[in-house]
Amino acid sequence: MASYSLLRPLLFQLDAEKAHHLAISALRFGLYPWCNSRQNFPNLHQTIAGIDFENPIGLGAGFDKNAECIPALWKAGFGFLEVGTVTPKPQAGNPKPRLFRLESDQAIINRLGFNNKGENEFKRNINNCLQASENKRIFGINIGKNKTTEDPVSDYLHLLHEVCNLSAYITINISSPNTPGLRSIQSAEMLDDFLGKISKVSNQLQVEHAKRTPLFLKIAPDVSMEELRDICTLSLSHGLDGLIITNTTLSRPANLKSRHKYEAGGLSGRPLSALSTETLRQAYRFTEGKIPLIGVGGVSSAEDAWEKIAAGASLVQIYSALIYQGLEMVPKVIQALSERVEREGFANISEVIGKSS
Ligand SMILES: Cc1cc2nc3c(=O)[nH]c(=O)nc-3n(C[C@H](O)[C@H](O)[C@H](O)COP(=O)(O)O)c2cc1C
Repeated sequence: MASYSLLRPLLFQLDAEKAHHLAISALRFGLYPWCNSRQNFPNLHQTIAGIDFENPIGLGAGFDKNAECIPALWKAGFGFLEVGTVTPKPQAGNPKPRLFRLESDQAIINRLGFNNKGENEFKRNINNCLQASENKRIFGINIGKNKTTEDPVSDYLHLLHEVCNLSAYITINISSPNTPGLRSIQSAEMLDDFLGKISKVSNQLQVEHAKRTPLFLKIAPDVSMEELRDICTLSLSHGLDGLIITNTTLSRPANLKSRHKYEAGGLSGRPLSALSTETLRQAYRFTEGKIPLIGVGGVSSAEDAWEKIAAGASLVQIYSALIYQGLEMVPKVIQALSERVEREGFANISEVIGKSS
């Protein structure tokens, strides 16, 4: 069977965004035969925020922005998928080119700017998927604001109403570096007011639907220790269910080699790994393990996933490494993680959480 390592040189001849669209089309139309890899490892099962996860390896937001290929992605073996970022109205995003492979750094820079088909098409895709679903598929919906919306909270509250009943969890994304002003919501003053409004609506929706959809907040790695402490304190006081740590970084490590290193946008992949893991480790200390953390940034192997979990993550997400290794990496990471749990004498992966913090 063809493997991604054979296909990759061809895909890498294409502009990065075109290659991504090709991959999405292949997944949508089932032309991705090697991703039929679900395996069950009981030592990786966990219940986090009330949701049962078969394994802790998830797909990071931004890969399937319009929720077009959930069934195919599920077959790759992920324990959960995060789709979106969706905004209320469709939007084109920033001018192209806006997605760059930094191959020698195993990294990506993107300044896409929440390009997506908008809430209506997103909901149609999700509903089709739910109707067709014979399996239990765990996915979260990542929500954001339209670039031109002046009062950002209005977009989030609107989307909460619209999608809260469609997914296992909702991620409030205030950490994309490519939507002007978005990250400033992370400042303590704005965040307190913002989360107050979000949790009020979330509580109302819980009563209306007789069910609580857990709310996760996704944060940037480019925050000071003080800001991170405030984010953690406010997330706890407003009753959030988890933190996703982290989005891409605006920083540029000095050792980047690729010619694209000066492109504007968020950097992800291997060079983000240490920064996002340290942010996670600090957040685990600040939250004292009281809410689950989801670690994302530079995970490209079972060792990387283990490091995030040991630093305090209950779950882990992957995006950029998929571009370099393909979806075939997912079952390999999951199997190797399960083997390491056993080898190190743990009964379950949950015993590893925070071990190195
Ligand atoms: C091309 C691209 C698009 C992304 N789009 C989104 C997005 O729409 N929403 C979001 O919350 N994160 C988005 N991300 C961030 C990822 O979900 C993830 O947080 C980040 O890339 C770090 O993980 P990684 O190093 O495994 O890629 C995007 C990342 C990439 C590379």
